[in-house]
Amino acid sequence: MSEGLAQAAYIVAVLFFIMSLAGLSKQKSAQAGNYYGIAGMSIALIVTVFGPDSQGLAWIIIAMVIGGGIGIYYAKRVEMTEMPELIAVLHSFVGLAAVFVGFNSLFAPPEMGLINPSGMDAENVIHLVEICIGVFIGAVTFSGSVIAFCKLRGIISSSALKIRHKHKLNLAAIVVSSMLLIHFVEVDGSIVALIVMTLIAFAFGAHLVASIGGADMPVVISMLNSYSGWAAASAGFMLASDLLIVTGALVGSSGAILSYIMCKAMNRSFISVITGGFGQPSFVSGDIEESGYHEVTAEKVAEMLKESHSVVITPGYGMAVARAQYPVQEITEKLRAKGVNVRFGIHPVAGRLPGHMNVLLAEAKIPYDIVLEMAEINDDFSTTDTVLVIGANDTVNPSAIDDPNSPIAGMPVLEVWNAKNVIVFKRSMNTGYAGIQNPLFFKDNTSMLFGDAKVSISAIAKAI
Ligand code: TAP
Repeated sequence: MSEGLAQAAYIVAVLFFIMSLAGLSKQKSAQAGNYYGIAGMSIALIVTVFGPDSQGLAWIIIAMVIGGGIGIYYAKRVEMTEMPELIAVLHSFVGLAAVFVGFNSLFAPPEMGLINPSGMDAENVIHLVEICIGVFIGAVTFSGSVIAFCKLRGIISSSALKIRHKHKLNLAAIVVSSMLLIHFVEVDGSIVALIVMTLIAFAFGAHLVASIGGADMPVVISMLNSYSGWAAASAGFMLASDLLIVTGALVGSSGAILSYIMCKAMNRSFISVITGGFGQPSFVSGDIEESGYHEVTAEKVAEMLKESHSVVITPGYGMAVARAQYPVQEITEKLRAKGVNVRFGIHPVAGRLPGHMNVLLAEAKIPYDIVLEMAEINDDFSTTDTVLVIGANDTVNPSAIDDPNSPIAGMPVLEVWNAKNVIVFKRSMNTGYAGIQNPLFFKDNTSMLFGDAKVSISAIAKAI
C-alpha cells in the first residue's frame, strides 16, 4: 500500500469518526453512529497494520488476537450496570499505552528516526517534550481510571478523600514534574527524571480522582474519557501518527464538552471538578431525623395508579440492577390504555452512565415522546397524582435544595415530593451512590414499597 493511499484512507477514517460522534449525540441516530465508528476504526486498523510503515506483522496479529479475544469475552459478559467500570478499565489501558509508547520511543533504535542520536537539535527537544507530556497525561489517566474503577465497583469508598493541604500537594506535583521535564530535556533524555515524573503522575492522577466524591463521579468518568483522548493524541505526536493525533483530539475535546455539559447539569464548577475539588467547601452531611416512614403494598399502588389522571415515573440505578424496564413498559401500556397520562422524568446523572435510563427505556420499547428530561418535567410534579420512584435515590433527594451542608447541595434534582403521592421502590432504607440519607422517604405523601423493583412492578402490573 502506498503512503498516499494510506493517508487518503486515514482521512476517510477520520470522517467516519466525526460522523460517529454526530450520530451518537442523538438517541435516534445513535445506532448509526456506532456503525460509523466501527467502519472508521476498521479502516484505521487495516491501513495501520498493512500500511507502508508496518513491521513485524506476525507479532501485531498475535497481539490483536489475544487482545481482541479478551475484549470480546468481557464485552459479552458485562452487565449494563457494569458498563462504567468497563469504560474506566478501557480508559486506563489508553493511559498505560501512552506511558509505554513514551518510554518505548525513548529507547527506540536510532534507525526508527524518532530521536536524533547526534544531539540536541530542535526536533529532538520537541520530541523529548512530547515524551514527557505524553507520559505524564498517560500516567494520570491510568491511575485516575484505576481509582474510578475501584470507586464504581465499591472496592474503595465513593466519598471524597480528604487529606490536609491536598491542593498544595497537587500544585507541588505539577511544579516538580515541570522541573523534571526541563531536566529531562536538558540532559537529552534522562531516564531517571522520566521514571520519577511518571511515579509523581501516577500519584497525582490517583489523588485527583480520589478527591472527588460520590455524586460527582459522572463528571469524573467523562473527564477521564477526555484525558484518555489527550493521552492518545500525545502518543500520536510521539509516533508521528496524524491519525492518532486527530482521533485523540476528537475524543479529548468531545469528552471535555461532555464533562462541561454534565457539570452544568449538576450545577458544579467545571474547574473545581477537573482540579480534584479545588475551591469546593468541605461538606458535612447533616443528620436526618428518621421520624418513621409509611409502607404500601403492590395492590394498593395498583389501585392508586388506576385512580390517577397523571403519573410520572422517575427511574434510577435500581431499575437497571433489577432489569425492571420490561414490567415498567407493561404498566405504562396498561395505564395508557386506561387513559392515564404516563410520562418519564430522567435526571441527567440517573444510573451509572450518561443516557443510562434512556437506553434501558428504549430497550423496552417505551415511546421516546413520553420520556422527558428533568428540566422539562420538574414544573409538572405539582399537578401529578402519582410519582413512581423506581430505584432512584440521590436524583430525587430534597437535601440538594434544602440542606446547604449536604454533599449534593446545589445539584438540581427531580422535585417529586411536590406530587400528590410518591411511591419509592427499593429493597431497604440504604443510601444511594452518594452515601447520604434521603428525607424524601420520611415525607407524609411518600410510601415505600420494599423489594426488588422487578418483582414489585410485576406484581403491580398483574394487579392492574
Ligand atoms: P442511586 O442514588 O445510586 O440509588 C439507587 C437506589 O436503587 C438505591 O437506593 C438502592 O436502594 C436501589 N436499588 C438497588 N437495587 C435495587 C433493586 N434490585 N430493586 C429496587 N431498588 C434497588 O441512584 P440514582 O438516583 O440513579 O442516582 C445515581 C447516582 O449515581 C448519583 O449519585 C450519580 O451522581 C451517581 N453516578 C452517576 C453516573 C452517571 S454518568 N449517570 C456515573 C457514576 C455515578 P436499596 O439498596 O435499598 O435497594
